[in-house]
Amino acid sequence: MNIVEKEAQIVKKSLNVDNTILKALIKCLPVGIFIIDSNGKLLEVNSLVYNIWGEFQGIENIQQADKFQGWNSSSGELICGNDWALVRALHGEISYGEVIDILRFDGRKATILNSAAPILDDKNNIIGAVATISDITKIRDLEKELIQHKEILKNLIEMKTHKLININEKLSRKITINEQLTDKLRHMEQLNLIGQVAAGLGHEIRNPLTTVRGFLQIFQEDNNFQNYHPIFSTMISELDRANSIISEFLSLARVKEVNKAMVNLNEILSELSPLIQAHAHITSKNLEVILEDNLKDLYIDENEIRQLILNLCNNGIEAMGPNKTITLHTYTENNQVILKVKDEGSGIPKNILDNIGKPFLTTKENGTGLGLATCFSIADRNNAQINIETNSLGTSILVCFEE
Ligand SMILES: Nc1ncnc2c1ncn2[C@@H]1O[C@H](COP(=O)(O)OP(=O)(O)OP(=O)(O)O)[C@@H](O)[C@H]1O
Ligand SMILES: [Mg+2]
Repeated sequence: MNIVEKEAQIVKKSLNVDNTILKALIKCLPVGIFIIDSNGKLLEVNSLVYNIWGEFQGIENIQQADKFQGWNSSSGELICGNDWALVRALHGEISYGEVIDILRFDGRKATILNSAAPILDDKNNIIGAVATISDITKIRDLEKELIQHKEILKNLIEMKTHKLININEKLSRKITINEQLTDKLRHMEQLNLIGQVAAGLGHEIRNPLTTVRGFLQIFQEDNNFQNYHPIFSTMISELDRANSIISEFLSLARVKEVNKAMVNLNEILSELSPLIQAHAHITSKNLEVILEDNLKDLYIDENEIRQLILNLCNNGIEAMGPNKTITLHTYTENNQVILKVKDEGSGIPKNILDNIGKPFLTTKENGTGLGLATCFSIADRNNAQINIETNSLGTSILVCFEE
């Protein structure tokens, strides 16, 4: 036995490796165990080491640690000979649970958990080192699978949540549209009811009015009543006013007969503009008309649309101070023909806007509050929708004709 072997014998003894209990323990522990002396010589390697690394031969000293190929599992860094925990333990370092991907001696890959610590004698001298390894390949694979499943689950939840949000948004939109439609329906029903009552009464009232008007005209022309001439004029114009209110009432009725044909909105506006111009001129206001070329024809009741335009223009002109301009504009947007009546008035007050289009809503001393209600009713019968944009600089009423 040479000196080195003798030394090993002494270390082995001081490590008590010969101890039968320790030997049995090393055999049955569920981890691989390496024991080396202070020179790095392998004293003990249990069978689990071979299970984990695969069979290897001819490695007797830790200086040959380069033959063990491993990579830090999280950083991917190659572990060189001196980086192994067992080698570092010979310098006094204790390491615990290092996760290392290894290339086994049979060429397969595995992942191990590696721990090591120095072995000290009574005087705290390092007389060797011990390392344990355990195979965590399956746990790592399961972990990876779990992460993948988690990712899939996360994506699935995100997708479903997104879908739910979409459905929710669609539902909210539908509810809003429904509420708007219900509102509109209620409004139209209201107008219709008023119109129907008016239709019944209107006929009965109009006939006697016409008779009275006729007699008044005769008396007006009679020389015997010359002194009363201005009074007859007032009476006739008051009767005309009553008559026009009845006409407005009648046009609220949905049952009203409509007389539709293909008509061009530009033509109606061109015909009406001298009349509107004259009305604006009396109160020192201007009219501007911008008509789109080649505007497509609409299937509408020409007379009703005339009334709608006049009502909107009257409102616009009445809302403005002198020298302001009312603009009539036709154009096409999203395939829809649009008539815009824009004024430079002070806008529609909020409390009026909330109830706009309801009959008898007026802020004018001599207003009936039927102008806009009539416009809504006409728009409804002629497949158009009325949108209002208003602020302190003016109001634009947009009449959008459906295709
Ligand atoms: N272009 C506008 N600018 C500002 N306010 C407006 C405009 N159009 C309508 N309004 C407001 O809406 C109310 C209702 O208008 P609507 O045309 O229905 O009735 P009116 O003009 O008061 O009376 P009339 O029956 O004689 O038309 C008006 O009294 C006014 O307060
Ligand atoms: Mg009006």
